[in-house]
Amino acid sequence: MPSIRPSPSASLITRITCPSFRVPLIPTTGTLPHRSHTRTRSVSTKAYNLNRPGNKARNGVVGGIIVGAIGFSYLYFTDTRSAIHRYQVVPLLRWLYSGDDIPTEAGGKGPGAEKAHEVGLKALRVLYDLGFGLRERGTHEYLESGELGVELFGHNLKTPLAISAGLDKHAECIDPLFNISPAISLLEIGCITPLPQDGNPKPRMFRLPTSNSIINRYGFNSVGADTAAVRLRSRVRRYALKHGLTEREVLDSTEIPASLWPNRLLAVQIGKNKATAETDMEAVKRDYITCVEKLGRYADILVVNVSSPNTPGLRSLQKRESLQELLTAVVLTAQKADRKVKPKVVVKVSPDSDGVEDIKDVSAAIKFAGVTGVIVANTTVKRPLNVLASPQVSEEEKRVFHKEIGGLSGPILLPKMLELVEGYSKELGENAVVFASGGITSGQDVQEARKRGAKIVMGYTGMVYDGVGFFGRIAGEIKRIVDGGK
Ligand SMILES: Cc1cc2nc3c(=O)[nH]c(=O)nc-3n(C[C@H](O)[C@H](O)[C@H](O)COP(=O)(O)O)c2cc1C
Repeated sequence: MPSIRPSPSASLITRITCPSFRVPLIPTTGTLPHRSHTRTRSVSTKAYNLNRPGNKARNGVVGGIIVGAIGFSYLYFTDTRSAIHRYQVVPLLRWLYSGDDIPTEAGGKGPGAEKAHEVGLKALRVLYDLGFGLRERGTHEYLESGELGVELFGHNLKTPLAISAGLDKHAECIDPLFNISPAISLLEIGCITPLPQDGNPKPRMFRLPTSNSIINRYGFNSVGADTAAVRLRSRVRRYALKHGLTEREVLDSTEIPASLWPNRLLAVQIGKNKATAETDMEAVKRDYITCVEKLGRYADILVVNVSSPNTPGLRSLQKRESLQELLTAVVLTAQKADRKVKPKVVVKVSPDSDGVEDIKDVSAAIKFAGVTGVIVANTTVKRPLNVLASPQVSEEEKRVFHKEIGGLSGPILLPKMLELVEGYSKELGENAVVFASGGITSGQDVQEARKRGAKIVMGYTGMVYDGVGFFGRIAGEIKRIVDGGK
């Protein structure tokens, strides 16, 4: 009969599962003295004896510390108010993704600002889907007194704060973004174009960290209206299933906003495809109308973008006649949207059309078409030199500032934004709601914009540099200002 020899793997299994059972080791080389094996074995056997009273207590303490540390880390990392998000996560992402978004194999410097943005959004989404969504923990003192509340289109928003377009261009992070903070009353997704398009070649997003600014020339990279509509519809279906309703009941509810979050609104921004000539007004209208037909039923607000500097000719649509024609077509189509509470139509304008005549023209088109609001404003193609004022500004920032084409955003926009908000508020009076967008970094900035007539104040670049705690921090600052600096 052949003798049965334990195989090395069988021996390993025995060692792991039966720690106190002495099995002679099979020497792996002939040079190791047998005694050394025995000594090693007896030490490990002792360590496995969990039932000794001293070990029990020690294991209990160690276990408690580990569980406590995991629990604390979970609560700390998932709290958007934690300092780590502002002071560690943001710089770390910037350091990890410091390239130019061109693969090194293709001669580039590797992942850059755009990749960092994608990774940030994906992390938010994955954590949310796993049930660990980032959120503001503890009490929200800015919500309690209701002092920050704003009534907008029949909804009682808790704050005047909103995320502006470009952050979630493809309708893929709506719930994780709302989840970040109850201070976010409105989220504008998009820009979404009727057909999918790639946008401009990379690199197309550049940071100017010393002035907390960004230059971007994405050029409406979009998954297209069909894919966006599928994503928006699946949210409605999941919501309906969870609440025992039908999809129709959700769409036709007068209580449930399109955001599917109480007292919060979803704005969907729409634009035209690059291939559609801005001179062909019928084709331009068709592009926007297609977007309204496909996306209008999922939106509380539809935003008509005629102000991106990165789609050639788009800004020419701000001329009075073209704008009037386009907005009228959008408003009429929105009134037929397949939901009970029809989406309101808002137009987003450029900060570079800042003359008195520009404001008068756009306002006339808004009044003529029955548009409900205006977002003032988008990024600028201008390059104000004070962006480079800091002595710390790097040579790379100087190069980006002077050489890279695109729209500039960040604190530099604030004065122009305030001026335009005032101009549009005066010109429109009660005829339309003014939304402020541009350079917001503090509660003070928000209050300034509100003083000049803005009802909603939007942010984007501030959050890129400040992290996920941005809107909660600003809401807290507004509350302190409202309370008289307490
Ligand atoms: C990377 C990036 C992408 C943007 N994409 C869009 C867009 O698709 N549509 C749009 O209307 N505005 C877009 N914007 C402009 C912002 O919505 C906002 O109006 C502008 O940045 C000014 O606000 P901020 O200084 O708070 O960022 C984008 C801005 C940035 C930085």
